[in-house]
Amino acid sequence: MEIKITKDYQEMSELAAKEVAKVLAEVKQPVLGLATGSTPVGLYEELSKMELDFSKTVSVNLDEYIGLDGNHPQSYRYFMNEKLFNHINIDKKNTYVPDGSLPDAQQAARDYEELLSKLGRIDLQILGIGNNGHIGFNEPDRALSLPTHVVKLEESTIEANARFFDSIDEVPKEAITMGVGSIFKAKKIIVLASGKAKASIIKSLVDEYVSTELPASLLKFHPNVLLIIDQAAASLLD
Ligand code: GLP
Repeated sequence: MEIKITKDYQEMSELAAKEVAKVLAEVKQPVLGLATGSTPVGLYEELSKMELDFSKTVSVNLDEYIGLDGNHPQSYRYFMNEKLFNHINIDKKNTYVPDGSLPDAQQAARDYEELLSKLGRIDLQILGIGNNGHIGFNEPDRALSLPTHVVKLEESTIEANARFFDSIDEVPKEAITMGVGSIFKAKKIIVLASGKAKASIIKSLVDEYVSTELPASLLKFHPNVLLIIDQAAASLLD
């Protein structure tokens, strides 16, 4: 895992945007894996400003809450439209986010994994990291699912994400997430982290062993991972 430490959030976002631009320049029909959360917002702002050509790009998002349809302001589909897709020339038909509004979430997860298999590759996957070390919504556990699956959110994740909702009771308790196996289909993975609040989990990730109790640590087995973190997130590293 290669690590780049940037001065601040802005520099982290710009560096990540350059990596995305590189993929768009090199690959004819790029498949981008995208993430939500506050961390990649700056990256999406940069991409919106850069006037890149996304007309041939397909995007797949990591996860979605169960019970929210794409018009709900806290759904990840809505987030992606607002933060990125509405500002670039991507064809929305080529943007995929798991569907959390279907009555059979297990089937929706299986369908999403089939879509990923059909696409066959992800050229670049962007990831954030949860305070508990989750990637996508792969929560710390004794064992982790490889394909896209339904997951019960940890109390700490519900608390962390409550800031986006009117009250904590409105935060969905379940989600559909790409599994670690789905994420590992990516040729390259960029993990972004910013701010003091992420310093402790970044230290554990970099210093410690590999464990499904720290899902991001499994990325150490992937041959092409770049961790881009700002100084605040890197502040506990030796
Ligand atoms: C959510 C998302 C993750 C994201 C994490 C961190 O739970 N499912 O993909 O990485 O939050 O969010 P933030 O970037 O806001 O710290």
